[in-house]
Amino acid sequence: MRLSIAKLPGDGIGPEVVEQAVKAVEAVCDRFGHEAVFTFGYMGAAAIDRFGDPYPEETHKLCLESDAVLFGAVGDPRYDNDPNSKIRPEQGLLAIRKQLGLYANLRPVETFKSLVNKSPLRAELVDGADFLCVRELTGGMYFGERGRKDGGDTAYDTCVYSRFEVDRILRLAFGYARRRRKHLTVVDKANIMETSRLWRAIAKEMEPEYPDVVVDYMFVDNAAMQLIRCPKFFDVIVTENTFGDILTDEASCVSGSMGLLASASIGKHTSLFEPIHGSYPQAAGKNIANPVASILSAAMMFEYSFGLMEEGRIIREAVSASIEEGVVTEDLGGNKSTSEVGDWIADKIYKL
Ligand code: IPM
Ligand code: MN
Repeated sequence: MRLSIAKLPGDGIGPEVVEQAVKAVEAVCDRFGHEAVFTFGYMGAAAIDRFGDPYPEETHKLCLESDAVLFGAVGDPRYDNDPNSKIRPEQGLLAIRKQLGLYANLRPVETFKSLVNKSPLRAELVDGADFLCVRELTGGMYFGERGRKDGGDTAYDTCVYSRFEVDRILRLAFGYARRRRKHLTVVDKANIMETSRLWRAIAKEMEPEYPDVVVDYMFVDNAAMQLIRCPKFFDVIVTENTFGDILTDEASCVSGSMGLLASASIGKHTSLFEPIHGSYPQAAGKNIANPVASILSAAMMFEYSFGLMEEGRIIREAVSASIEEGVVTEDLGGNKSTSEVGDWIADKIYKL
């Protein structure tokens, strides 16, 4: 199979970790007789520097023409502490999500046996936890009207959801629940927010269409607690954009490190695969960042974009082996560099 992949490393540690994912993709393609063709695109602060636009038209064109997008991270401290900055690297990520219609962000949370002691949570709580967060990605406060009034002294961000948007993400989540352990948790704030009441109403209407799925409804504040009190309770979680952003950072503590969590953003056009960690500027260029989340994102790419399940499985197996054998970066208590872990995993993919 010929796989045409847009490679958007972005900022901070993005380029270093994506490079390791590329090694894994190339190894698996070699092994299975596929041909991967990578095309580079500018994104984030790197794109602002060059084009004055965090998601330039030529990058968008490249994404539309590719079968999948392998994405690193965006963000740059030059913009973080400047509230007056009109243009920010993060806008590039919002633009790519919106323009490619990537309305669903799938963030699986799994645990590795050998890492249960690395979690800030007690080992017996996290051992065996395995759930999927389905985060809505193109609506809510991220895209609602925002602004200032009263001469700038009052600011607002609005949360807006249409039936159409809620319907499609819930259907997707019900579908994933059906293929997993048939348990769906709808997370909202229906005691306060009107958008949440719409979500809940639509989910209730949909329930009879999925009689095999057990559904429960949980307020987001409670969900934030249950996630760390009893992570094994969850199978599939579905929630709106902002709640999903916050809960998935929290959920990364279950697996032990943010450097382990991969994600797939899927929707209308080309799907995008990215680690959930950000650009981690303090580590940029130091060859210390954990490349596993990026490599696992590549595994998701094989499975979701190309339907190549065996290829995805081999990547996962190689990653698991690296963790079992302690070939890990410092966030997991190891002493290996980003590229050493990447090389080891690529090599393991050939040998498995
Ligand atoms: C994420 C990130 C992004 C988000 C930022 C970088 C815009 O935190 O993918 O979770 O808030 O969605
Ligand atoms: Mn986030």
